[in-house]
Amino acid sequence: MIRSGGLVCFPTETVYGLGADALSETAVRRVFAAKGRPVDNPLIVHIADPRQIFDLADENLSFNAEILAKTFWPGPLTLVMRRTILVPNAVTAGLETVAIRMPDHRVALALINEVGSGIVGPSANISGRPSPTLASDIVEDLRGRVELILDAGPTQFGIESTVVDVTVDPPAILRLGALPRKDIEGAIGPVTLGTGDDLLRRSPGTRHRHYAPQARVVLVKEADPGELSRILAELRQRGNDVGCIVHSPQLASVETGQFFCVLPGDTDMVARYLFRTLRELDRRGVDVILVEEVSEEGLGSAVMDRLRKAASA
Ligand code: TXA
Ligand code: MG
Repeated sequence: MIRSGGLVCFPTETVYGLGADALSETAVRRVFAAKGRPVDNPLIVHIADPRQIFDLADENLSFNAEILAKTFWPGPLTLVMRRTILVPNAVTAGLETVAIRMPDHRVALALINEVGSGIVGPSANISGRPSPTLASDIVEDLRGRVELILDAGPTQFGIESTVVDVTVDPPAILRLGALPRKDIEGAIGPVTLGTGDDLLRRSPGTRHRHYAPQARVVLVKEADPGELSRILAELRQRGNDVGCIVHSPQLASVETGQFFCVLPGDTDMVARYLFRTLRELDRRGVDVILVEEVSEEGLGSAVMDRLRKAASA
């Protein structure tokens, strides 16, 4: 199906991707249309063997790129490199760079190997919505818009890969994600975190709405039952149906019921279940979702990045 220009959703260790032939301009345009994705937001090309880099990116790999690929691939790390002319403009949104990653999932790798060249793989959600961590999330968003969904059960990390620009020295993180910053720094030394105008220039897609459920998202302080109860009461007073997503023992017993979701306490688990719980509360029809913040350790800063974007949509 991919070879004939079709769209095939596939599992990865982070979230599900919407796969299509990365070298076919027509197939890539269908991906943008299916997701309702703004055309200035470039796609990641997924490969199954690090040597496939050389079909897509400049042969003079930076030393940092080489170490990062050797250390973390297959895995939840996307490298932004200078592109070759083989990569269609639609993939890179006209940028001079291309984002590449080798996912750590046997179904994804088998699929890419069978196709024989790279496949694009944006998260398989309608643009702006939480990424899919279950095949049923894709059915909800993309039913009738894709040819096939490969269901391999829930994804492991639950949030997307970390995106690192290795065309600059020191490299710059353009999107926090499932590979923590300190792991990257452990391998190549200090990196920067892209922000403001510089980030918008290098990763124009970050300006758009992201990760947002239909309900309004409001963040509440970690482990502060007083604040949670006060905000809950206020919102209900104004007639809202309110859902909650909490994880700390302090907040776990504030309420019970189908609108009150308690996630396992550690941050990796909050990352794993966050998107699917946001979607679940949407299905239950709440107006507002209160989400307990997490401390910015390990995957915590990536989780907080998603939460802040969801809350500002
Ligand atoms: O974990 C993931 O990365 C998932 C799975 C399916 O692999 N994919 C994913 O793709 O999250 P998507 O399209 O939802 O996010 C791609 C991110 C966006 O932030 C985009 O702006 C950035 O990568 N990106 C892609 N190409 C880029 C480039 N040439 N320069 C800078 N940023 C780029
Ligand atoms: Mg996405």
